[in-house]
Amino acid sequence: MNINRIALIGFMGSGKTTVGLFLSKELSYPFIDLDCYIEEKEGEKITKIFSDKGEDYFRERESFYLNEVIEDYEKVIISTGGGIILKEENRKLLKEKSFVIYLYGNFDTLINRLQKEEEFKKRPILKRDIKEVKEIYEMRQKYYRETAHLILGTEGKNPNLIVKEIIKGLQAYGKM
Ligand code: S3P
Repeated sequence: MNINRIALIGFMGSGKTTVGLFLSKELSYPFIDLDCYIEEKEGEKITKIFSDKGEDYFRERESFYLNEVIEDYEKVIISTGGGIILKEENRKLLKEKSFVIYLYGNFDTLINRLQKEEEFKKRPILKRDIKEVKEIYEMRQKYYRETAHLILGTEGKNPNLIVKEIIKGLQAYGKM
């Protein structure tokens, strides 16, 4: 595992992008938001990829670009999409090649954060029934947990505090 390649995982709304940006500033590492990276490379918004080509196609591209980013960057903060842990190959790759941090939040808190229209519209999974979204959240928990080297609760914490806790976690690993 490369401790300088840091991957943030977690459900939609858990703050991966915000925390990733703060952390990249703090450590002076480059920052890659995998969703934005996919949109740039594919020349299309994620909602459009989902509606035109389907979720399976998106998942295949998501794995492909995760591999690309991991190959190209030794020192980086990667914020991943909430479904990255669905494929076993992604879980394995992340765990072996990066230091994985799971940003955990309660379902209701995360959904509340995503209620803003522009946040909601960006995420095709949220078009589904809320009961189904909750099932997806619950089904994914074991994957987030088994993939992570460090699990951090985010409830009631601001990004600065989360970054401090991440730095502590990295130091506890003793390799920074
Ligand atoms: C998804 C999460 C999204 C994005 C896509 C699918 C998911 O990323 O990859 O809409 O399946 O949870 P965020 O977690 O950054 O919202």
